[in-house]
Amino acid sequence: MEMERSAWVQEAWERTVDKMKLTSRRIGDHFPHASVNGKYVLEPAHWWTAGFWPGLLWLLYRETSEETFREIAESCERKLDQVITEYYKLDHDIGFMWTLTSVARYKLLGEEDSKRRALLAANLLCARFNIKGRYIRAWNPWRPGEDNTGWAIIDCMMNLPLLYWASDVTGDPRYRHIAEEHANTVLEHFIRADGSVNHIVIFDPHTGERLEANGGQGYAANSAWSRGTAWALYGMALSYMHTKEKRYLTAAKQVAHFFIANLPEDAVPLWDFRLPADAPKHRDSSAGACAACGLILLGRLVDSAESDLYGRQGERILHSLSTKYSAWDAEEEGLILHGTSHVPEGKNIDVPLIYGDYFFVEGLALLRGQQELFW
Ligand code: GLY
Repeated sequence: MEMERSAWVQEAWERTVDKMKLTSRRIGDHFPHASVNGKYVLEPAHWWTAGFWPGLLWLLYRETSEETFREIAESCERKLDQVITEYYKLDHDIGFMWTLTSVARYKLLGEEDSKRRALLAANLLCARFNIKGRYIRAWNPWRPGEDNTGWAIIDCMMNLPLLYWASDVTGDPRYRHIAEEHANTVLEHFIRADGSVNHIVIFDPHTGERLEANGGQGYAANSAWSRGTAWALYGMALSYMHTKEKRYLTAAKQVAHFFIANLPEDAVPLWDFRLPADAPKHRDSSAGACAACGLILLGRLVDSAESDLYGRQGERILHSLSTKYSAWDAEEEGLILHGTSHVPEGKNIDVPLIYGDYFFVEGLALLRGQQELFW
């Protein structure tokens, strides 16, 4: 079984490296999000997905020392300097953006300019914390007149590692306090008894009172958006890794059990786990890739008796993505097919998504034995 695993993982890894050598020639230091008709559409640097492409290149550079990957990732990071002062455009996803660029480079190369950038981003993320309600505010208004000051979203669990890292490198616990307060709010208001999660919870920003949950990118307020479930699973496992607080481990397991129990035969989830019969049944491979990384981490964090339960499920998802969902040919720039970004808005459905590719490669690195995370 071990031999079998190392063979498919090694093959997938080598094919990924070969493909990225080609893809990176066209994409260069730009910011892909979704691949349409075989080509990644490039987004502006302030878009929330800006960290994933350079992050993917750092994953590959770490193992290959391929200088082109490093140069492109560094150039992407420098481009983000232009957006750090874009007050109206940046939101809580500065965690995703600077963890996979500046924190990654600092962890790999120890470069002080990357540390400075990531700390600045961490300060901006802390500034979004509302002491009433104890949540990190998600977005700024999407359109004139909109008020989303009281909105928090499950995705933010993946932005908290930037704060844990900032406390680790500065010795200043403020960052980690805010991360834990937000994670505690998620435990109380987002994670349901059955292990499914709310995407959006709205608080009164003046009193902190919980007002309502909102379906967001899921099918409905009481459904179970699969990528949100994956953000919760991996995010809670990471919060446990950084704090050793058992409540986060318990939550990560609870969400993991819901996720695993609701996987279809091929182990790659639909975009929402709770869909009525007449709803569209698209897969979301990115949710599978992200959850797989969370499951592998969980397998490393629990006692040996439980370890296999999580680790093998993560491996099962990655194996399915690698053998049934991959696009190894050069005609398609995306690595992993059948991602679904936003069904309620009809955006980027059944396409490769850069975060699906990122987590697929992160998962392969973990299966190859890599112990260090950028998160
Ligand atoms: N963070 C937005 C998404 O998962 O689509």
